[in-house]
Amino acid sequence: MSDMLPGDLPQYVSPQERERALDLDASQRDEPVHLSNSEIRDRDAHVAGSQDALIIADDLVAGYLPGVNILNGCDLYANRGELVGIIGPNGAGKSTLLKALFGLVKVHTGHVTLAGDDITNVRADRLVTMGIGFVPQTNNVFPSLTIQENLEMGCFQAPGKFKERFAFVTDLFPALGQRKSQRAGSLSGGERQMVAMGRALMMDPSVLLLDEPSAGLSPLLTDEVFVRVKEINATGVTVIIVEQNAMRCLQIVDRGYVLDQGRNAYTGTGRDLATDPQVVHLYLGTLAQA
Ligand SMILES: Nc1ncnc2c1ncn2[C@@H]1O[C@H](COP(=O)(O)OP(=O)(O)OP(=O)(O)O)[C@@H](O)[C@H]1O
Ligand SMILES: [Mg+2]
Repeated sequence: MSDMLPGDLPQYVSPQERERALDLDASQRDEPVHLSNSEIRDRDAHVAGSQDALIIADDLVAGYLPGVNILNGCDLYANRGELVGIIGPNGAGKSTLLKALFGLVKVHTGHVTLAGDDITNVRADRLVTMGIGFVPQTNNVFPSLTIQENLEMGCFQAPGKFKERFAFVTDLFPALGQRKSQRAGSLSGGERQMVAMGRALMMDPSVLLLDEPSAGLSPLLTDEVFVRVKEINATGVTVIIVEQNAMRCLQIVDRGYVLDQGRNAYTGTGRDLATDPQVVHLYLGTLAQA
């Protein structure tokens, strides 16, 4: 594995193999958990690491239907100004985790806190006023509205902010200002993502949640989206990004989480995860999908 070249495709990895490798029950059997250079879920490390975090998801059990849990004890935190990535196979619960942070999925047990305040199951529209922005995976612009109207929708709860925030967003994404009268539906996929991110930035969020901003984009546009995400983060916004482009994501984030079957699998710095042979083998191949 170690002499694999960057473009090589690892072997197909079945969900069963990933489960064996995770050995989720090991801690309950009192056996030493074999860790590679990034950690398998470690509650103590999460609790210690999240002391001063801006947003914390603590031991979340959550799902869409009563009795059916999609998240089975998930931990995540992001420090102020941090760029945090979430990767994992299809159906792992990545979008569900973002939605649980944003009040769109019922949290059955566990807590979400923002700057020390408990925001578990607080409604999304309130969370927006509290400083959380969310860009969903699909349908994230109003296609029949212009770029400017989309951005207006982003701060309809505080129209007084429009002028200042429009200036901020169009400074970050000049193309949105130049083409503000163009309908969002006529834009390319990459441009739509800029509108969606711009819309979420209109309320001046302290935390921005991005669900697969590069989905369906060409490699070139994917790179551009990642550059933009870095730029947004550089303005001081804490960003949590879910990505299918796992390797690329790990290259830009400060820390990352690998989610599998609604649980934390591995956690570490982007670099640690990207160079962990076990993570590479199990999750970073294009064939390592559910
Ligand atoms: N609205 C919903 N109602 C019921 N079940 C859902 C709903 N949305 C997702 N699920 C289920 O929750 C599980 C996790 O889905 P989720 O969308 O969180 O995965 P994901 O990691 O984001 O996957 P992908 O990489 O495909 O986006 C899946 O089994 C999915 O079928
Ligand atoms: Mg998803």
